[in-house]
Amino acid sequence: MGEAKVRKVGVVGCGVMGSGIAQVCAQSGYETVVAEISEELLRRGLGIIEDNLTREVEKGRLAEEKKREILGRIKGTLKLEDFADCDLVIEAVVEKMEEKKKVFAALDQICPPHTILGSNTSCLSITEMAMATKRPDKVLGIHFMNPVPVMRLVELVRTILTSEETLNTARSFAESLGKKVVVAGDAPGFIVNRLLIPFLFEAVRLYESGFASKEDIDAGIRLGLNHPMGPLALLDLIGLDTALYIGEAMYEEFKDEKFAPPPLLKRMVAAGWLGRKTGKGFYEYK
Ligand code: CAA
Repeated sequence: MGEAKVRKVGVVGCGVMGSGIAQVCAQSGYETVVAEISEELLRRGLGIIEDNLTREVEKGRLAEEKKREILGRIKGTLKLEDFADCDLVIEAVVEKMEEKKKVFAALDQICPPHTILGSNTSCLSITEMAMATKRPDKVLGIHFMNPVPVMRLVELVRTILTSEETLNTARSFAESLGKKVVVAGDAPGFIVNRLLIPFLFEAVRLYESGFASKEDIDAGIRLGLNHPMGPLALLDLIGLDTALYIGEAMYEEFKDEKFAPPPLLKRMVAAGWLGRKTGKGFYEYK
């Protein structure tokens, strides 16, 4: 089986992940359309992209003119109808199955038959999203890591319905963004979170039990394993609510205690301590 050429990309959602995905697509030369549900969210998302590119210019790694070219390739919209000529669309909306299914059903109506529909979900069933469309063979998971412009991995999630051609096209596309691809089956967490979430939760349990301080837990992993950040700092980066949500989905699916969210994590989320995005998680941020 062959693969199709991707020329124009759509991204649904311009939050932390969607904005990063739109940025790397435009940086790699793709015409990119990115949708949000309000003017304000769109402005904020496009602002993240502009700030990231401005930082690259300030570091002398990107010419001002190139920055303008990249931004010129990104079209923000409030209407999914603007995805009508996209060859590949990546959904990065909130992690709620009902919302995702609505997006997939709408895209299925709007996009031409050849368009591949991908989801950036971390833990929801790609098969269920595929079944909201009449093209389940053209649906797969395209899971980026946070922060998208920096992290080199993309997990492609192949369901029992995904065609070989869809997988090949998505692989070439992800590689054209400068990412390395791994392929996983459709179960919550795929490869990375399947291993990461129990590790992060165990760090919270260690901290919660008073066994070690948060600084020592993080330093242990940073210095002892050469990870770029310790697990508690990484939870702050990912977002405690996101990690909780992924853990709950994994526990629901596997009924294995290693995925059960620790009580402290639930309480911190209930208290609104979501990590970097709220200025407070395990650590405080300006
Ligand atoms: N967007 C764009 N670029 C960013 C960025 C962002 N949000 N955050 C950092 N960067 C860039 C910086 O500009 C900097 O670039 P240069 O070195 O080229 O100048 C580089 O990344 C390093 O940043 P800093 O010097 O500010 O800080 P650092 O060296 O501590 O790196 C980090 C920050 C890249 C986040 C690094 O700590 C890291 O890799 N941490 C681990 C991240 C990780 O594990 N991500 C996966 C999370 S799990 C996931 O995403 C899956 C899921 O479903 C939950």
